[in-house]
Amino acid sequence: MCKVICTATCKGGDGKTTSTVNISAYISKRKKVCVVDLDPQHSLTTHFGVRQSELKACKTIYDIFFYLIDHDDIDDEELSELVHSCVIHTSEVDLIPSTTKLARLVKLLPSATNCEHLLEYALSFIKEEYEYIFLDSHSGFDLFCHNALACADSVLIPVEANIFGCEGLGEVLPIINGLKKRMNPHLSIEGILFTKYRARTKNNQSFRELVYRDFGNIHIFAPIIPERTSVSEAPSFGMSIHEYAPNSDAAAAYAEVAEEVMSHA
Ligand SMILES: Nc1ncnc2c1ncn2[C@@H]1O[C@H](COP(=O)(O)OP(=O)(O)O)[C@@H](O)[C@H]1O
Ligand SMILES: [Mg+2]
Repeated sequence: MCKVICTATCKGGDGKTTSTVNISAYISKRKKVCVVDLDPQHSLTTHFGVRQSELKACKTIYDIFFYLIDHDDIDDEELSELVHSCVIHTSEVDLIPSTTKLARLVKLLPSATNCEHLLEYALSFIKEEYEYIFLDSHSGFDLFCHNALACADSVLIPVEANIFGCEGLGEVLPIINGLKKRMNPHLSIEGILFTKYRARTKNNQSFRELVYRDFGNIHIFAPIIPERTSVSEAPSFGMSIHEYAPNSDAAAAYAEVAEEVMSHA
């Protein structure tokens, strides 16, 4: 059985991509994992060490969406072959990469039949081959993110313990609830994860308490991801924190979160 997990927040910079990379990379040591980059800014692709120049002759998530937008009568065999041809085997995970080209589909996507469920259909051809599929999209609930939420089993919400993070959390939950009702009734919340945390600052502490007070009915991961230079440096080397700084406290925190994710049904 495959579990599909996506990240979502209203604003950028909360640690969606970083968390997707570091949780999926840890889990991939023991499980079959695929990650899908749904962001035209392609940070996930870059973080796993795949450069845009390498992708010029490769099929990417753009080609999958384009095929589905462009074909009314889908040839399942052809689509399955296309989806498989997009998968890159990196040293850590299998990756369906993204490029800036994906942005060209923003205007075309709404005109496709069943436009919020295209990814769901595409992933059905590889789902049996993986135990976990992680989906990372751009901030702000664009249609690619809707596609992710339409086929995810759960959504993980990274949050910074500050005023913007708390405001964002207040906005993100009603949106997820609405999309759950309309598109994917079995979507659950994997949990809220504090990222980029500065334990010594009063501000971070008090906003963390506020989140526990206001959102205590939702699962909040006990491990907290500290703000560390090693976490922000790791993408430059195309590595997760588990490869770049395996003995760091940030790697340990992400490992704990990943263990917890694996313990969830
Ligand atoms: N724990 C952390 N410590 C230091 N920098 C971090 C940490 N988590 C994320 N970052 C940095 O913050 C920025 C935004 O993170 P990112 O994961 O790209 O956010 P999002 O995908 O939500 O836009 C990136 O430059 C990333 O390297
Ligand atoms: Mg991102």
